[in-house]
Amino acid sequence: MTAPTRLSVDEPSSAPHASRTTPASRYHDPAFLDAELGQVFRRAWMAACPEYRVREPGRHFLFEELGESIVITRDEQGKIRAVHNSCRHRGTRLVCKAGRTPHLKCAYHGWVYSHDGRLREVPEGGGFESLDRSKLDLVPVRAETFAGQVWINLDPQAPPLAATLGGIDREVAHYRLEEMEPIQQAVWELPVNWKAVLDNATEYYHAPIVHKQTIDAHVGATRPELVTYGDHTRQTLPIAPYEWRRWVDLRTSRGGPYTDKQLECIHKYLIFPNTLLNVLPYHLTVFQTFPIDAERCRFHYVFFKRRGARGLEWLRAYATWAASRYILREDVVILHLFQQGVRSGRTPEHVFHQYESAILHHERALTRWIEGRV
Ligand code: FES
Ligand SMILES: [Fe+2]
Repeated sequence: MTAPTRLSVDEPSSAPHASRTTPASRYHDPAFLDAELGQVFRRAWMAACPEYRVREPGRHFLFEELGESIVITRDEQGKIRAVHNSCRHRGTRLVCKAGRTPHLKCAYHGWVYSHDGRLREVPEGGGFESLDRSKLDLVPVRAETFAGQVWINLDPQAPPLAATLGGIDREVAHYRLEEMEPIQQAVWELPVNWKAVLDNATEYYHAPIVHKQTIDAHVGATRPELVTYGDHTRQTLPIAPYEWRRWVDLRTSRGGPYTDKQLECIHKYLIFPNTLLNVLPYHLTVFQTFPIDAERCRFHYVFFKRRGARGLEWLRAYATWAASRYILREDVVILHLFQQGVRSGRTPEHVFHQYESAILHHERALTRWIEGRV
């Protein structure tokens, strides 16, 4: 397990210019995306859906990204499962949308599976010359839970999720993120490389320009701080230091105990490769991007408040949601321009400011995974 490493983004960097750059082709080259898909997305843990989508036994959710179709279920024993959405008779897709069913039944010839993926019924089974039913369960996918999300891994040999988190799971446990429930869940297709959305959400350099009327006007003098946990990062961003802030915090921060920093700063955990958890005691936002091709992605957005929020806590969660939607619009506008310019190929190399160090960390982790050094 990797111990967290603190990098103050205020410290002047002694690194030579050349080590703080990345080739622009990583944002538009299909060959680089192929490497990312094969070496990273096929091997890393990724959030697949909020856990509330499979709250009761029999409920299932459909994860359809990366060319995969995966059914996430909670079985009769209450255990989270994930299976490939393909019938073991002749491969037909079993599930077409999220829902709740007593079992998973193929619409073609009626083979029936329980929610743990086990084959239960084969109509007119005597008609098969030989059929070893024990080998015809649905093909399983690794699935675990953390931070109120179901995480999957396409690599059967991958280490357990907790062993890859570098201690982030222990750090966020106080927030009790499994208590969060959604205000809004949306998926948008964006004409930008999948990394650009996450880069933008974890760098502070653009804030005084893109968000000069919103974030930057309210963060005060404290600068953000970057902490690394192996391949993952945490960007700590101070928010709205108004006079009666502590009074509001005391009334809106269930869970805990929280440190002063957890109360005063939004903590942005980028779980490598593609899941960003924005955490405060009264809200959680999950950002995820999945590549469609080298220059398009699907952006999964879920904004949560704590279950049972009332009064001031409810108001603060909804006000934060409204503000974050406005800020997100500012980001999406600039991201369109980013990708249009990157595509031109006229800036072959990106050079990073100290406040963009989280991007550099992510880029270096990507390189290690692609070169097979992980
Ligand atoms: S393909 Fe599913 S039962 Fe035949
Ligand atoms: Fe932004």
